[in-house]
Amino acid sequence: MPPLDDAWWRDAVIYQVYPRSFADSDGDGMGDLPGITSHLGDLRELGVDAVWLSPFYPSPQNDAGYDVSDYRAVDPRFGTLADADELIAGAHAQGMKFIVDLVPNHTSDEHAWFQEALGAAPGSAARNRYIFRDGKGEHGDEPPNSWQSVFGGSAWERVTEPDGTPGQWYLHLFDVTQPDLDWGNSDVRAEFVSVLKFWLDRGVDGFRVDVAHGLVKEQNLTDWTQAGPVLGGLDVGPPPPMWDQDGVHEIYQQWRSVLDTYPGGRILVAEAWVQPAERLARYVRPDEMHQAFNFAYLDASWSADPQRKVIDESLAANDAVGATTTWVLSNHDVVRHTSRLGYPVGEARMHGIGIDDPQPDTALGLRRARAATLQMLALPGSAYLYQGEELGLPEHTRIPDEFRQDPAWFRSGHTERGRDGCRVPIPWEADAPSYGFGPSDSSWLPQPPEWAEYALDRQRGVPGSTYEMYRAALRLRHEHRLGANALTWVDTPADVLAFRSDDVLVLTNFGSAPAELPLGARVLLSSAPLDDGRIPTDVTVWAAV
Ligand code: GLC
Repeated sequence: MPPLDDAWWRDAVIYQVYPRSFADSDGDGMGDLPGITSHLGDLRELGVDAVWLSPFYPSPQNDAGYDVSDYRAVDPRFGTLADADELIAGAHAQGMKFIVDLVPNHTSDEHAWFQEALGAAPGSAARNRYIFRDGKGEHGDEPPNSWQSVFGGSAWERVTEPDGTPGQWYLHLFDVTQPDLDWGNSDVRAEFVSVLKFWLDRGVDGFRVDVAHGLVKEQNLTDWTQAGPVLGGLDVGPPPPMWDQDGVHEIYQQWRSVLDTYPGGRILVAEAWVQPAERLARYVRPDEMHQAFNFAYLDASWSADPQRKVIDESLAANDAVGATTTWVLSNHDVVRHTSRLGYPVGEARMHGIGIDDPQPDTALGLRRARAATLQMLALPGSAYLYQGEELGLPEHTRIPDEFRQDPAWFRSGHTERGRDGCRVPIPWEADAPSYGFGPSDSSWLPQPPEWAEYALDRQRGVPGSTYEMYRAALRLRHEHRLGANALTWVDTPADVLAFRSDDVLVLTNFGSAPAELPLGARVLLSSAPLDDGRIPTDVTVWAAV
């Protein structure tokens, strides 16, 4: 059992459940909370310490639930508040912590506040909770500034005033149905403190904070002509006026003081696409959040030098503020690492793959993904897994375009395939309808025919399967306290990366020739079979020394 003390998160392995696609208990093709509860035993068996759920709140689902219309309830598609309570209690009964997603940058346009704002006058208290501005030009028919939506197109939308005349514009950094809140407004601040308490009182152990770098905008809303930074990519250069403004930190300090009044180590995790590492580390200073996703690691290319560089930079920046470093390779916004790594090094595709795009080499991608995972799970700090990666699941790269739902596909004028390919319902049983996702054949995104071979029941108990590799890795990680130890680099040939974590030596071979294991090293786990005792290309080995 993992330690369940207040600092549990410092070396925890946290598993992301995407509720739409994890397990469907009622056969409507959409995953739900009772489905998740019924599989908690499987997550315990896998050996994770905590579960994080993407949003399950009432939502028109224009951005798969990241468009919330009520922060204190459960969307009927996913269940009821009683189902949420049962799930939280179930996770705790299995010894796992439970984290929910909080979406504070924007609400859905169907949220009561936004509806009230639409019916209210310019300058009213209801409008001031959002970012409404008059348009430019003689008739106010041009957007207030040049900002672009992350999903494509202008970040402004014009409303029709209650009297029927063309009216003000509101800011939406994401979809047009996701109006940005004004975090300078005291109603907004008070509301989210109350939402935090609502879920803390229900027993959740933490919050993954969506778009944590976006809440505060530069005061003058200065023009910014470059395309908006996109999910899955880190921009270089000074922060643009909509991201990573200094004012965000005061919000998290306030939230931290709320969390600290609750027992048991409740945490805040920042989703912040911010660089460099020192800038990101500002979110995890001692009086702010506990963790921030390390997207620089996810973005690093598959070769020894950039990998070592990103590991060193991440550890140094977090050490400087006393925070734990996190590691992440996949989530619901990026192409699964099994498929990203199936392209030639340096050509990874981050924004979705379609049937007419160059296709990844599936075998190479899986081989490298397994090696990457074993490297990640041995690093000091906390690691995030995304549902299905323990099955070696690839991206679905051939979804027919008529099934696509990601707003990025529509708003980019069909130039970005978007994120549906990593969100396809996962396979549990090879021979069941929808591969055991639910009791019917239906699944909200089509599952590819070759997914039977990835099903959990085909891998459980099978030596060498990706699932058994993950299980063994998580067990050994706990036994050897790999997340808690310090890392020491070991000298190796140029294309091999090796570090020690106490009595465990971790070697990854990025080169083209097999690499030697040190004399006397005893292999604990390997991402692929060794070649006559040597480490083949694109393989990671854990060895006792
Ligand atoms: C975050 C979520 C992403 C969502 C966006 C807008 O980046 O991870 O899925 O589309 O925020 O809420």
